[in-house]
Amino acid sequence: MIPTFKLADGLYVPQVGFGTYKLKGATGVNAIVSALNMGYRFLDAAVNYENEGTVGAAIRRSGIPRADILVQSKLPGRHQHYDEAITTIQESLFRAGLDYFDLYLIHWPNPKTGLYEEAWQALVDAQKWGLIRAIGVSNFLPEHIDKITKATGVQPVINQVELHPYFNQADQRAYDAAHHILTQAWSPLGRATSNNVMQDPIIKNLAEKYHKGPGQIILRWQTQLGVMPIPKSTHASRQYENMSIFDFELAPEDMVAINNMTRADGRIRDQDPAYYEEF
Ligand SMILES: NC(=O)c1ccc[n+]([C@@H]2O[C@H](COP(=O)([O-])OP(=O)(O)OC[C@H]3O[C@@H](n4cnc5c(N)ncnc54)[C@H](OP(=O)(O)O)[C@@H]3O)[C@@H](O)[C@H]2O)c1
Repeated sequence: MIPTFKLADGLYVPQVGFGTYKLKGATGVNAIVSALNMGYRFLDAAVNYENEGTVGAAIRRSGIPRADILVQSKLPGRHQHYDEAITTIQESLFRAGLDYFDLYLIHWPNPKTGLYEEAWQALVDAQKWGLIRAIGVSNFLPEHIDKITKATGVQPVINQVELHPYFNQADQRAYDAAHHILTQAWSPLGRATSNNVMQDPIIKNLAEKYHKGPGQIILRWQTQLGVMPIPKSTHASRQYENMSIFDFELAPEDMVAINNMTRADGRIRDQDPAYYEEF
């Protein structure tokens, strides 16, 4: 059993979820069924991953009751106009073959486009109509969250951001915590070979000290920070490893050592939401 975090609106989410980027088609279904059978109960998808159908098929194939699984998807930048956002949420549900999503996020704020406030209104309304249980954002900076909250009176319950030891998001985490928003970590393992954080000597030494894998050290660090990582793996053994992180605790000085690995230019691809846009 994976312990839970409680969201501001009362929903409980597991402290570790499962990322599904690049998991598509029959091999994608197999990987997700494996993760569900292993004990994962939270799936992170997105319109732009083109895999909501895969996620829905895996849920049905797993035999696990729908109500026991939390499914999250994301609205792409090209559909932020209010009417399009509503239709896109409905299309996501049709593709997944689900009646509702547990969570739906705005994928990127795209501030130059200037439509994220009306996109947020669409999520607020879709939640009222029962299409979505809880609503959140991804890659939002404090200024973006302030704006949508002011415009609608409704605050997101989750903010999913790039977060790993080389970019630990201390300021964003402090803002999220002060506003009762759960910070979710995307690319929690630095997308493996993309930044090689699992090979960093500090992480490797801690892995030896605690007799754990490098990935387990990083994911445990995140959950001890109060962050929910959503690691992705196609391998059953790694899926198991990534959720088996609750039988040990990192000492305060080791938490500090990992905290100190962060750097201003530590993003994997320099995707700063202040100017980076994705459609
Ligand atoms: N909101 C956003 O803008 C955004 C952006 C990026 C990602 N995401 C979400 O976040 C999820 C996770 O991020 P990610 O997929 O980019 O990267 P990640 O989870 O940090 O890393 C995934 C990579 O690490 C490997 N891996 C997994 N566990 C491992 C372990 N224990 N030891 C060694 N290698 C391991 C995987 O390989 P194998 O599969 O071969 O095991 C895969 O290549 C995504 O799947 C997606 O759901 C969201």
